[in-house]
Amino acid sequence: MGWFAVARTLPLLLLVAQLATGGPPPHRILVDTDIDTDDLFAILYLLKHDRAEFDVKVTTTARFLVFSDIRSVREDVNNVVPVNCVFSQAITISANSWTDAGHAVNQLYDLLYMMGRDDIAVGVGGEGGISNDGRIYPHVGGYFPIIDQGMSTIGECRYRQSIPQGSGGRLDINANYGVRREILPQGNRSYSPIQQPTTQQVMIDTISAGPTNVFLVGTHTNFALFLMSNPHLKKNVKHIYIMGGGVRSQNPTGCCPKNDTSCVPRQCGDHGNMFTTYTKNPYAEFNIYGDPFGAYQVFHSGIPITLVPLDATNTIPITESFFKAFEEQQSTYEAQYSFQSLKIARDTWFDDQFYTSYFMWDSFMSGVALSIMRNGQKPNGDNDFAEMEVMNITVVTSNEPYGVHDGSNPFFDGHASPKFDLLKGGVHSGHVQTGFNDSFCVLKGSTKGKCQDGYTKEVQGPDSVAVLVAVKAKPNRNVKSPLDREFFYHFLEIAVEM
Ligand SMILES: *[C@@H]1O[C@H](CO)[C@@H](O)[C@H](O)[C@H]1NC(C)=O
Ligand SMILES: *[C@@H]1O[C@H](CO)[C@@H](O)[C@H](O)[C@H]1NC(C)=O
Ligand SMILES: *[C@@H]1O[C@H](CO)[C@@H](O)[C@H](O)[C@H]1NC(C)=O
Ligand SMILES: *[C@@H]1O[C@H](CO)[C@@H](O)[C@H](O)[C@H]1NC(C)=O
Repeated sequence: MGWFAVARTLPLLLLVAQLATGGPPPHRILVDTDIDTDDLFAILYLLKHDRAEFDVKVTTTARFLVFSDIRSVREDVNNVVPVNCVFSQAITISANSWTDAGHAVNQLYDLLYMMGRDDIAVGVGGEGGISNDGRIYPHVGGYFPIIDQGMSTIGECRYRQSIPQGSGGRLDINANYGVRREILPQGNRSYSPIQQPTTQQVMIDTISAGPTNVFLVGTHTNFALFLMSNPHLKKNVKHIYIMGGGVRSQNPTGCCPKNDTSCVPRQCGDHGNMFTTYTKNPYAEFNIYGDPFGAYQVFHSGIPITLVPLDATNTIPITESFFKAFEEQQSTYEAQYSFQSLKIARDTWFDDQFYTSYFMWDSFMSGVALSIMRNGQKPNGDNDFAEMEVMNITVVTSNEPYGVHDGSNPFFDGHASPKFDLLKGGVHSGHVQTGFNDSFCVLKGSTKGKCQDGYTKEVQGPDSVAVLVAVKAKPNRNVKSPLDREFFYHFLEIAVEM
């Protein structure tokens, strides 16, 4: 179930400078993601895209390559990169949902080594904290949601409880179900808590260096902390692309056949995908739920935002046809690694629902974002893979009634004046979901709960933000193809075949 859960804690920051040789200046991209299985696809897609932009084609007829072959191919690739290329990349990781910092960094290092990219810096966490009066210290760690951070890296895991710790959760994701150790080659780099550059430093360095597009596919803690501590650098953030949330989404997971009276629906029609706590909070999606206050800061930052929520990703499940097409294209080592990761996710899925309840999430967002950028970032978000619509939304961070102090809200409870000068009685001042089984969230007479923490809710008025929202995946233009989504075909072409 790990994937379906798919909240990615591991903000991985990947700076991809796309090169258009002799064309417009490169798009600088910084990706903040966790290293969940779906994230691997997104990262590989971006890394491969980079290569595509260099117009370098790596082709091979070998059915199975051994890793040493890949290394030599990579060296050839490096040799053909034009010398005037700006091709800097950096990755940062913070671990407050699906993976733990050390495991995430190590898997990422190995992945980058496989791709011949030991040059990419990887940052994680930091030992700084947030004081009671809301002062954010430098190098503040992203190990906990903002609401629970104290003076040090100590904090509480109110939201993270919703992620299973054992199999189907962190244990599987940390090890990528064992596939990492079995297949992924190990390079020279490994996690080093003291020497690792911090997430905040990598974000500052990257965004100071020039206009940057930020991709967020994990929780928003790291980037929210960056924005709160470096308001002067906001002007360098060109656009934020987010995979997360659900606005008008209707989860197809766990719906019952019409003629089956014994079946009990699970999450069917919910906005969210929180499979461990939908009886308390059917509204939230894991990435946003991981730090609702952090996400609120990002959405309300004034920076233009494109959101790829469950509304769109629910319309691009990994179908059996896509799975088979992927299986047939195993000509590169990384394709083998990705496919084995996908296969084990399928084989360990909770029941026979994989093909209807496992979706493309981060990889789809990456495709939509690159296509929008390639089309010149038009206000209507015109792109090849998703239909777009502007909606006014906010992120719910606490539940009504506001201004009631019941011990659940550390921004207000026990403070003479609220943390970060928050408004008494404002939207952040209500009950905050305390965990996956919070009795406050029980809705009498219903199996679905009432808590909305982390809901990307459509609202109007002063607390709303106009956001470009992906509403559905576009069908394949080739109607004869068994791959029914345009992005399926493109993903296989870029991330798998090349
Ligand atoms: C790893 O480190 C060793 C010893 O420093 C060095 O000889 C080797 O070339 C390195 N390998 C790679 C792939 O960088
Ligand atoms: C429901 O309908 C389908 C298709 O008509 C049929 O195959 C299935 O056996 C039915 N299930 C029940 C529980 O009646
Ligand atoms: C969003 O808000 C703006 C300004 O308040 C309003 O003009 C517009 O109609 C709203 N759009 C939607 C889709 O609700
Ligand atoms: C959830 O809370 C209820 C009542 O507060 C309790 O009876 C139940 O055992 C809890 N379930 C879990 C899995 O902790």
